[in-house]
Parts: sequence; C-alpha cells; structure tokens
Amino acid sequence: LLQPTGPRDLEGLQVVVSAGPTREYLDPVRYISNPSSGKMGFAVAQEARDRGARVTLVTGPVNLPDPSGMRVVRIESALELRGAVLAAAQDADLVVMTAAVADYRAAEQQHEKQAKVAGDVSLHLTPNPDILAELGTNKGSRVLVGFAMETHAGVERAALKAQRKNADFILLNYPTQAGTAFGGDDNQVTLVRADGSHEDWPRTSKREVARRLLDEAARLMRGAAS
Ligand code: CTP
Ligand code: CA
Repeated sequence: LLQPTGPRDLEGLQVVVSAGPTREYLDPVRYISNPSSGKMGFAVAQEARDRGARVTLVTGPVNLPDPSGMRVVRIESALELRGAVLAAAQDADLVVMTAAVADYRAAEQQHEKQAKVAGDVSLHLTPNPDILAELGTNKGSRVLVGFAMETHAGVERAALKAQRKNADFILLNYPTQAGTAFGGDDNQVTLVRADGSHEDWPRTSKREVARRLLDEAARLMRGAAS
C-alpha cells in the first residue's frame, strides 16, 4: 500500500473546500450554470487530506468520484452550497472557495416545465448570497482563500475582491489559456492579496497549485495561532 510521504503539517486542522459549478434551476428541466470541472477544488481537498487535515468537500455537480478519506457533500444550487459551507465552516481553520458560484438565480423557480412561447422572453434573476463575503464578515481566526477568473485588470479586480470579502488571498486565473482553468489539468495562477501585492506562479498541475496554496495558508494559520 502506498502511503503519502509528504509533510503532515495540517494534522489536527479542519479544512473546508468548495468545488465545481452551481446549478440554478429555472424549471425542473432547465438551469443556469457554468463549465467548472471541479478539478481544482478536488485537488485542494486531496492535498489537504494527505497532509493530515480533516476535510469537508462541498461540491456542485461534477464528473469526479468522491475522494476517499474526507466528508463529501454534494449540492446543486448556490443556496445549498451556502448552507453546507457555512455549517462546515463553524469549526474550520481554513476555507477554500474554488466553487464557481452562479451570481444569480431565478427570482421565481417554476415547478412545471415552461412551454415555449412565440417571440422573445426575459428572465427575472435575483442575486445569490456571496458566501465568501459572509465568511469574511465573521472571520474569526479562520484563513479564507478565494479564486477568481478575470478577463481583464485581473490583479486590480482580485485585490478589490480580497478586500471586499475579507479574504486572506485570492488565486487569480484567466479563462483563455489552453489546458488551464476550466476543465484542464494544469493551472497558471497569480496569488493576489488585499493590499494589491501579488506573485505569479508558474504554470503547473492543479495538484501542485493546491500544494502551494496550502503552503501559503499553513503559514498564515501558524501566524494566527502564535
Ligand atoms: N463567491 C462566493 N459566493 C458568490 C460568488 C462568489 O463565495 N455568490 C466566491 C467564489 O467562490 C470565489 C470568489 O468569491 O472564491 C470570487 O468569485 P468571483 O465570481 O470572482 O467574485 P464576484 O464577487 O462574484 O465578482 P464578479 O462580479 O467578478 O463575478
Ligand atoms: Ca461571480
């Protein structure tokens, strides 16, 4: 049997990771969503588990099996994600929000399939709660990490998000690079802090990005504990 050989520096710590997309149903057969694969969040959860953490993985619908050795909660909507993350975050030392949360849901979810009508239709959408921002308003000693995908002014926008949500740092990535971000096995991210300081990390596997993310979070948790 192969045992993990790396450091066990997260022994005794509780880590919550959100992953994948959310689905916001318009009616029983239609929803608004996005192409998040869940791979980045699953990699963070698996790396945290292998370093000794007790892990809760809250994931939207993805084509990935439940990883062993952790609690896995499957959700669909942003409201369900919020419930599961906030409950698990009660005793958490670290929360990593990789989930691609839909910003809006149907103002009124129809309980029957809507037949098409002649001509244009419009959707009435209402904003979903910002889960990371909610965690940030009651931060306590928890370390909070977000992800952001931007098409322009990435560092500036990510720093503002870190500030607004009271997150320790945000990993920024761009949707355009082949093989990275949505669906790929690699990622190229920039670590961005609220004060605008940032570091470009090299393009590497999502597992290696997870390792570096947890190195940074572990430093902050040690800082918070001392
Ligand atoms: N996030 C969240 N709840 C939401 C939306 C986003 O917790 N309702 C988290 C994401 O999981 C991510 C971080 O916030 O870790 C940044 O997400 P992003 O979509 O970039 O931020 P938004 O505030 O929604 O800004 P934008 O208008 O650019 O979509
Ligand atoms: Ca958003």
